[in-house]
Amino acid sequence: LDSFQGDRRLPASRTGKRLLDLVLGHEQERPPVWIMRQAGRYLPEYRALRQTAGSFLDLCYTPELAAEVTLQPLRRFPLDAAILFSDILVVPDAMGRTVRFEQGEGPRLEPIRPEDVANLKGEEGLAHLAPVFETVRLVRAGLSPEKTLIGFCGSPWTVATYMIAGRGTTDQGPARLFALQHPEAFAALIDRLVDFSIAYLVEQFRAGCDVVQLFESWAMNLDEVAFAERVIAPNRRIVEGVRAAIPGAPIIGFPRGAAGLVARYVEETGVDMVGLDYGMPVDFANTALPASVGVQGNLDPLRVVVGGEQMRERARSIIAGFSGRRHIFNLGHGIVPETPIAHVEELINLVHNG
Ligand code: CP3
Repeated sequence: LDSFQGDRRLPASRTGKRLLDLVLGHEQERPPVWIMRQAGRYLPEYRALRQTAGSFLDLCYTPELAAEVTLQPLRRFPLDAAILFSDILVVPDAMGRTVRFEQGEGPRLEPIRPEDVANLKGEEGLAHLAPVFETVRLVRAGLSPEKTLIGFCGSPWTVATYMIAGRGTTDQGPARLFALQHPEAFAALIDRLVDFSIAYLVEQFRAGCDVVQLFESWAMNLDEVAFAERVIAPNRRIVEGVRAAIPGAPIIGFPRGAAGLVARYVEETGVDMVGLDYGMPVDFANTALPASVGVQGNLDPLRVVVGGEQMRERARSIIAGFSGRRHIFNLGHGIVPETPIAHVEELINLVHNG
């Protein structure tokens, strides 16, 4: 790990963007802060705009509206970063699969069969995501220079779980069976997703993103062999592929539920920082990860729903627990629609002022 960190280049001077600088290795006097799913239904201005925008995917593909939604949380809160408003499932959409978001039900896709994999669109499908790159350019133009712009994509295994099951699942059973029953089609699907994701992230950087995050939201429920094949190897290929085009590209990996495999994930993928879910004990992370590894997280989002002393106490102990290493303060998963805005204000104020 230390040899890997030693390979990383540090720009001679700071960029002046607090979050980006921390990812690049420059220490900060307080943790930078952003909130997973910070643009979304807990904000009345998001709900109002969402009403006028048609479908969720229409919103993602309308640059003026997507840029506005991206900036909404930064108008309210002193966050250090904006995250591009889009979704991990625009990738299967661009690859030619049918993707729909049913109001109140979550995503629905046409489940992919082994024989469909060969028909997925490759890089020519990237043209479908031109509105996303335009959104990045609009956000960049509207963002103050000290704020970091985060781009993202879903990691191949996580995106594949939705493509195979056609929806979110509790134990990823359909994808786990597909991987074992159709190993060749599964490997081909992951290869297609790796190649597409590299091209997609490179374009996000070229359009103006400072950092990208790989969302491996379903890194749990895998044995260590499956984790190495389906999580570590594809994430590593994406990191290498993106950095071949954008030398030193800053990348945060978020392997939700990686648990005891988190150190292997960091060491073998080469990500700059690792997002921790709220089930990851602070002491375990500090023992498992060398001090040179930066972390992001990891407050339970439901603590922000309830707020008060239990939220402040837990947030303070996370900040104190990670004070010996680079740390981006965040939730350990996405903020939920029921969250009171006053609690978010209080939480961000606590990160700024203790
Ligand atoms: O963080 C942000 O503010 C940026 C936007 C963003 C969205 N989705 C917007 C969204 C990001 C980074 C995502 C990532 C995403 N999407 C993930 C990885 C992170 C995670 O939560 O684990 C996953 C698994 C998805 C797939 C997805 N999209 C699901 C399962 C759902 C339905 C659940 C839900 O929260 O409604 C979505 C829809 C979605 N993506 C919404 C938003 C704001 C809600 C849709 C709406 O407004 O109608």
